[in-house]
Amino acid sequence: MAEVVIVENKEIAGALVADEIVRLIDTVAEPVLGLATGSTPLPVYEALRGRLSGHDVSHLRGFALDEYVGIDPEHPESYRSVITREVIEPLGLDPALIRVPNGAIETIQHAGDDYDAAIVAAGGVDLQILGIGTDGHIGFNEPGSSFASTTRIKTLTEQTRKDNARFFDSVHDVPQHCITQGLGTILRARHLVLLAFGENKARAVAAALEGPISAMVPASAVQLHAHVTVVLDEAAASEL
Ligand code: GLP
Repeated sequence: MAEVVIVENKEIAGALVADEIVRLIDTVAEPVLGLATGSTPLPVYEALRGRLSGHDVSHLRGFALDEYVGIDPEHPESYRSVITREVIEPLGLDPALIRVPNGAIETIQHAGDDYDAAIVAAGGVDLQILGIGTDGHIGFNEPGSSFASTTRIKTLTEQTRKDNARFFDSVHDVPQHCITQGLGTILRARHLVLLAFGENKARAVAAALEGPISAMVPASAVQLHAHVTVVLDEAAASEL
């Protein structure tokens, strides 16, 4: 059963989750944070900026959920660039300890297995930050993804490409494929923290938390996890 916290705005949500991450950094010798991209986790990263001075982040490892396939890693909207800009640089993390799946075409065949092996070698993810897509995806696990799936290539749905077109010049520039941690990979994290803000997420949130557990709503996989915290604003909670 997920713990659902409804807060007034995304700044308060960001502060709540940032406090939890600081606790993790202070109490675990080799903490491993599961990072997410998109707009939703940004308030968490912003809140962390003001909270990390005096805390030792030199051992903090991070694993991002996903990456576009075939995008130049230097492209400003590659998830590698986003994680560097929003997380590594402002928080002063060691870039060698923060991984993003490798979306290079040349190595894509074994990139998924390599990534999951690296997560296992790091001791597993302690706290995984999750956003949710309007179609109920987490990471880039689109509807129909297996709950046992591991990190692999997926084809993005038209809806997700439209949703993410705001980060590119046009929808045609949004890559067609991605590499994403699987639902099985995500479920192995010890604590899942799902955030959602705004009315356009309300339906997906309700389906994920209160609907049937179904591959057609990938985020409903969180119902199978024993330690889930969901942080919502009132609009995102409005259909619960
Ligand atoms: C993106 C990401 C997800 C993210 C979701 C919602 O495509 N791959 O990790 O949670 O879609 O994005 P946003 O937070 O911008 O609404």
